Amino acid sequence: MQQSWNSDRRLTAIGRADLSVPARQALADRQLAPGRSVLDYGCGRGGDVRALERLECRVSGWDPYFRPETPPAPSDVVLLTYVLNVIEDPSERRRTLERAWDLTSTVLIVSARLTWEKSKVRGKEFGDGLLTSRQTFQHLFGASELRSYVEDVTGARIVSASPGIVYAFKDEEARLSYLARRIVPDAEWLSSEDTASAITALVDYVERRGRPPRIEEVPRSTAELLAHLKPNELKRLVRDSSDADKVTESAKRTTLSTLLYLAVELFNGRGPFTSLPLSVQLDVRSFFTSYKEACRRSDRLLLKLRDDGYVRGAMNASSIGKLTPTALYVHRRAVDRMPTILRLYEHCASIAAGRPQEWTLAKLKHQGRAVSWLDYPDFDKDPHPRILSSYQVDLQSLETSHLSYAASANRPLLHRKHEFLTQDDPDAIRYRRLTNSEVKAGLYKHPHLIGTESGWEAELIRCGRELRGHRLVRRAAS
Ligand SMILES: C[S@@+](CC[C@H](N)C(=O)[O-])C[C@H]1O[C@@H](n2cnc3c(N)ncnc32)[C@H](O)[C@@H]1O
Repeated sequence: MQQSWNSDRRLTAIGRADLSVPARQALADRQLAPGRSVLDYGCGRGGDVRALERLECRVSGWDPYFRPETPPAPSDVVLLTYVLNVIEDPSERRRTLERAWDLTSTVLIVSARLTWEKSKVRGKEFGDGLLTSRQTFQHLFGASELRSYVEDVTGARIVSASPGIVYAFKDEEARLSYLARRIVPDAEWLSSEDTASAITALVDYVERRGRPPRIEEVPRSTAELLAHLKPNELKRLVRDSSDADKVTESAKRTTLSTLLYLAVELFNGRGPFTSLPLSVQLDVRSFFTSYKEACRRSDRLLLKLRDDGYVRGAMNASSIGKLTPTALYVHRRAVDRMPTILRLYEHCASIAAGRPQEWTLAKLKHQGRAVSWLDYPDFDKDPHPRILSSYQVDLQSLETSHLSYAASANRPLLHRKHEFLTQDDPDAIRYRRLTNSEVKAGLYKHPHLIGTESGWEAELIRCGRELRGHRLVRRAAS
């Protein structure tokens, strides 16, 4: 096809051996579910199309240079992967996004390269981007620029899946189910082969959700195994076999998760009761007097997020995470155990800016509202993990920033690892034991010296100690 492009866009399409990051994210988020048709719009050499075909997705691809023959087909899911970056003409860029949106019936997944990759792209200024020596164009987006651009063009409510990947939902039900899955993960059902194991699975569900399921929530195979029992008989069996304390505890937890969901939903734009996923509707019916009451309570929760005193109080009272003069730091394994207001804080930030795919600690500031996700790839292996990157979103301005420490010779590192975890974390005892021996050896006497790799190493030498895994030993004479 003859193109009148002012840059050599075809050269931006790389050969992919594996699925792209956005396609992987969409798979993990169950947006490429088997029943949905998928269009890869601007598919380049078609690497994602082939990989998705291998995964038995109903997928087609269209590209103005590589696959112009068959016109793009309207589809449930449209992927627009790293296309907007390479279009040098802003009005064509906008039209391309509009076209992709027109072709979408459920969700449009837009990804773009972000400004934090600036150092990897060299070229001379051209329009609102850069023209490289190969004559390819790149407009790098700020994470919040991408979100508001897609919002502006589509008029849809946008959810950030991760930095540089946003979902624009055309189907409200699909948006609400996605949010629900992110916030209140579906209770997994134990597998069952006979009536006894089906009853066990049912009891387990009740103990974990705090209420009995409706028939539509029960997996078909389990429902069939229970079909010969009368509803009252089943009710009695569940009542007699379930642990009442567990059910009460779970009812409390589900109530808070429902509030959290409704508050996040308000943050992202609230829909009517009937558009909520069935399980959330049933949670609302079981644990609140009405949807109105549930909304009133969740609105109050969202309002409290603005109250510094309240948020600070929740951080002080929480036994989860490490509180410093500026922020609360919590390990990924412990975030769901934070008080609801703090979970809401972290969720709102993630809906606005997208949690990065790799992160270890969440940092919640207590003055102002900003969340960072910090990546310590060797958190579990390294007794004093070194930071690799941080990604921050300011909830007031929605501005994001990214910092990479990959090239830094003297990286910040962590101490007292157990403080980021819950007390019942399987590794907490081992980490605490190490901290105690480090304190005893005098390693924490000069806290201002030990925050970075070289300062810490110098203190280890001064104290005549070295680390063997998570054990502190006397330093061998050199
Ligand atoms: C960086 S490549 C991305 C290819 C593919 N999506 C991937 O991630 O592997 C950009 C692609 O956008 C395509 N493209 C350029 N202008 C376009 C437009 N107006 N509409 C749709 N695709 C376009 C190019 O042909 C090129 O294959």
